Amino acid sequence: MKDQIETIQTEALARIEAANDARAIEDARVAILGKQGSLTKVSAGMRDVPKEDKALVGQLLNAARQAITSALDSKKTALQDAQDAEALKGIDPTLPGRSVHHGSLHPLTHIRHEAISILRRMGFALADGPEIEDEFHCFDALNTPEDHPARNEKDTFYFDSGKLLRTHTSSVQVRTMEGQAPPVRIIAPGSAYRRDEIDATHLSVFNQLEGLYVDTDVSLGDLKGTLEYFLHELFGPETEVRFRPHFFPFTEPSFEIDVKLHAKGQAPKWIEVAGCGMVDPAVFDQINGSRKDEAFSPDQVTGFAFGMGLDRLAMIRWGIRDIRLLIENDSRFLRQFG
Ligand code: DAH
Repeated sequence: MKDQIETIQTEALARIEAANDARAIEDARVAILGKQGSLTKVSAGMRDVPKEDKALVGQLLNAARQAITSALDSKKTALQDAQDAEALKGIDPTLPGRSVHHGSLHPLTHIRHEAISILRRMGFALADGPEIEDEFHCFDALNTPEDHPARNEKDTFYFDSGKLLRTHTSSVQVRTMEGQAPPVRIIAPGSAYRRDEIDATHLSVFNQLEGLYVDTDVSLGDLKGTLEYFLHELFGPETEVRFRPHFFPFTEPSFEIDVKLHAKGQAPKWIEVAGCGMVDPAVFDQINGSRKDEAFSPDQVTGFAFGMGLDRLAMIRWGIRDIRLLIENDSRFLRQFG
């Protein structure tokens, strides 16, 4: 039996050595270790081995089984390695992988999120209103006279019904005050529509962010402090900000706000980013008339309001020279914000 075991082992190892594919190895395993395998069959002979030899023969059998099993394993691994090497021929696995493009926020979305988060930290809550408005909320309640140019058919998209696409987000001021007594501290980001000729700085649909703060004793100092802080948070603490007297029907006094832009290779210049002012008492009167109460009595409350161009803020922030890039969805442009 000892000889038999040795012979089987020698033959088995030779057969495994000669096997040159996975199939041949599996066949060898079955032929040697399988139910009808040569080694399995010999093992059955243990029964007839004299007691005193059993230990020795048993050891031999185990050793043979182990040697064969490990030969099978290492041959299998060697074959797999050879196969892998063959598959990789001509491929350099040390080359860097192809990068996967990550999506990113649109610059407008990005600047809107940032503006909202700064203003929310200062206690402003989000408000909203319809984009299809009526003349009262867009103009009359905001103290805008019948003959104001903004009301012109040439400048505004009117529907046959007499409704219109809001020309600014200031209508949300009116809607908010109609529904809520002071104190009011809201911001309203959203689209506005004008019949502008489209060019590098104008779109007929653009984005604004409106703000309104009404309470007792709100002052021009509050307005200046709030908006300066906001612009410094957005563009950096060094940013120069200027308030330039202007006219809006719904605020008195009114200002336009400019920030100084230092574009590479260009002389610094002032760029207008927002309109603002102290809410005109005539607006409070309109609101009270609409609410049928005196909640916004001009004797008791004051307020400030502002409206900024979000597209403009994004253009300044990233040095975008043409506003049309913001709506064209050219991936070569958008990819730069990833
Ligand atoms: N609605 C103005 C515009 O679209 C911007 C504006 C100016 C908004 C002054 C305000 C404000 O709230 O107080 O040009």
